Formats: sequence, C-alpha cells, structure tokens
Amino acid sequence: MANERRALRIDVLTLFPEVFGPFLASSILGIAERKALVSYHVHDIRDYSPDKHHKVDDRPYGGGPGMVMRCEPVFRCYEAVREMDRRPGRLILLTPQGRTFNQALARELSRCDRLILLCGHYEGFDERIQAGLPAEEISIGDYVLSGGEAAAMAVIDATVRLVPGVLGHEESAQSDSFENGLLEYPQYTRPPEFRGMKVPDVLLSGDHQAIEDWRREEARKRTESRRADLLERPRPPTETEDG
Ligand code: 6GU
Repeated sequence: MANERRALRIDVLTLFPEVFGPFLASSILGIAERKALVSYHVHDIRDYSPDKHHKVDDRPYGGGPGMVMRCEPVFRCYEAVREMDRRPGRLILLTPQGRTFNQALARELSRCDRLILLCGHYEGFDERIQAGLPAEEISIGDYVLSGGEAAAMAVIDATVRLVPGVLGHEESAQSDSFENGLLEYPQYTRPPEFRGMKVPDVLLSGDHQAIEDWRREEARKRTESRRADLLERPRPPTETEDG
C-alpha cells in the first residue's frame, strides 16, 4: 500500500552540499531512500553563479556588517532545479524569520510529493529572493544559526520519518512526543534493574490495560510538569480524524 505512492522528492539548495551526504545516508533517512520512499537531490547554489568567480554573496547596500546572499545564483539554481521534475513541489526557505516548524507542519510536508528546501547563509537573503520566488518561510525556533543547513536537516528528518512505510510500525510515530499533544511516556529496556534503579513493576506485569493506563498518566504528568503550554492548546487531530 505504502509503495503505491510515488516517492517524495526532496531537493536541497545550499552553499554547503557536502554537509548533507552522511546525514541523508544514515539511519531512518537512509533506509527511506533505499526503500525508494523518498529521494534526495542536493544542489550547490555556487554552480549557478553567473560570474567567473562564482560569487554568491556581496556587501549590503546601505552598509552594515556581514554579507548578503545575491539574487542571481539563487534564482538560477531554483529555476534549474524546478525543471528537473514535472512536479512543482513546495518551495521552503529556511530563515529565522519564518513560521515556526512543528510536528503538525512535519505531517503536512510528509504528504507532499516534492519539497524544495532553500538554505540561506551569511546575514540573510537579498529581500528580492523572498519577493520573487513562490516560497514559504520556515524557522526551526527562536535562536540564530549561521546557516539554514542544520534547519533543513531538522525539517527533512521530522518529515521523512512520517512518510508512510518509512518506520516499520506506524504507531511508533503516533505515540511520539507531540503527535497526540503530549510528551512521550518513559521507556525502559533490559535489564530490569540497573545500578539500583528499577523498571516500574507495571511494565513487567504483562497486564496490557494497566500498562496503557500507566503510560497515559505518565505522559500527562510529564507534559504538565515540563510543557504545560501543550495542554492549553487544542488537541491536534489524530490520523483517523483528519484523513
Ligand atoms: Cl531556518 N535559519 C537560520 N539561519 N537560523 C535559524 C533558523 C533557520 N531557524 C532557527 N534559527
């Protein structure tokens, strides 16, 4: 069933393509590509710079510190990459000024057939990049990274693991923190006692109802003490509710 869907195509536009290789080949992201559920295509924006020095940044008009990413290499790169597949995809610009990324947005992106992620660097993009490209802006939180690459990796990771068929068992993602509006309950594995710390008896009891009740209560307590803000929000719809 999962394989009837065309693989999610992810294009990354960056000045640092070399940082993506081992990340995309490892663990769940690598498995997803080997299962042909996603494909990754990393492009070097520098290859699209029109001048012979491959200059991709320049000093800001009006003065000030740092460098700004120039329009031309970015537009040319985007336009060339767009034509590499018939599907237009969703263009996402990684910037601290964007809408904050979260689990609901990851789920939405996991349903797309193509994502094109544009990573910024330096002091920012020339404003005409946002004005002239059909991009939505996404941030991964309220702090400043020196580039969008780490943010793109966070978005790719959170999104790909939600593509149907990527995780062996889909309910594993369902019980993850945030999926049901709660943090995840505590997990344990062998041994039953380690340096005097014991696994709660209920988990060894074999009583599935008792285990389920305990986990629900632990998730609630943990959320209340660490992230009470999550309890005040409306509960996100479950898979079956939002189809
Ligand atoms: Cl998407 N980019 C940069 N440079 N900094 C960030 C960010 C993105 N999200 C949070 N901080």
